[in-house]
Amino acid sequence: MALYTMKELLQDAQEKKYGVGFFNTFNMDMVRAVIRAAEESSSPVIIGTAEVLLKYGSFDMITPVMLEAARRSKVPVAVHLDHGYSYDVIMQALRWGYGSVMYDGTREADHADNVRNSAQLARTCHAMGVGLECELGSVGGLADAAGKVDQMAYTDPNDARDFIEKTNADFLAVSIGTQHGVYKATPKLDLNRLAEIHAAVDVPLVLHGGSGLSDDDFRNTISGGIRKVNVYTDIILAAKAAIHADGDEAYGDALLRAQDAMKEATAVKLQLFGSAGRA
Ligand code: 13P
Repeated sequence: MALYTMKELLQDAQEKKYGVGFFNTFNMDMVRAVIRAAEESSSPVIIGTAEVLLKYGSFDMITPVMLEAARRSKVPVAVHLDHGYSYDVIMQALRWGYGSVMYDGTREADHADNVRNSAQLARTCHAMGVGLECELGSVGGLADAAGKVDQMAYTDPNDARDFIEKTNADFLAVSIGTQHGVYKATPKLDLNRLAEIHAAVDVPLVLHGGSGLSDDDFRNTISGGIRKVNVYTDIILAAKAAIHADGDEAYGDALLRAQDAMKEATAVKLQLFGSAGRA
């Protein structure tokens, strides 16, 4: 089926009201796991890496793997850069052929900087035929290079309209109560806020921090307008559990079992998001 752009995948999801999963894949086992799950589920899927994950697999090594796996896959696969903070990394992603990138301006000193940078990057990305995801409010839970953890701040629906008008971003990551990583307490999602954001902007909405949410959380947020769901922690936890289950196993066999475990964990999400059977 080959390589698609995130814009193409989310356009179909927007029309038919389902969610598409985004999974971080910084090595070949993760790429294989996610694409196998998508193929077995006849589902479109988005794979990619993030600026903070480049230490595990650099652009020049992992991007050709992702693009080649996408081209060979039996289902539509898009390749996306998650959480780009620096201009340099986003420019490199454009050069390496990502169909879409995320600029995360939520760490900027003030909101105006997020708006200005997002608008400038949208111009550059669009000139190159690349889609741009931006974030407003802050999902929270990610640590910066100095170890400082982002605090959660809800997205204001009125700001969302203004932000999309001013920046021309293609996809909007919203903060409605999710956080990145393992939850310390059961998350309570603000579905009214999501409904207001959905009514305020036309672009596909993105939910970060998909690990640890309940089946109902996915159903409610997708019926409330979420079109892309980011999941990372749950997938690597499945891999870790598989590797630790048998300490005597040969290294290669442990990796294969981890790949199977990640594939299973991914397939569960694809069913929940409603993308299974859509490829
Ligand atoms: P989790 O690790 O909480 O699933 O979040 C993933 C994510 O949002 C990546 O951008």
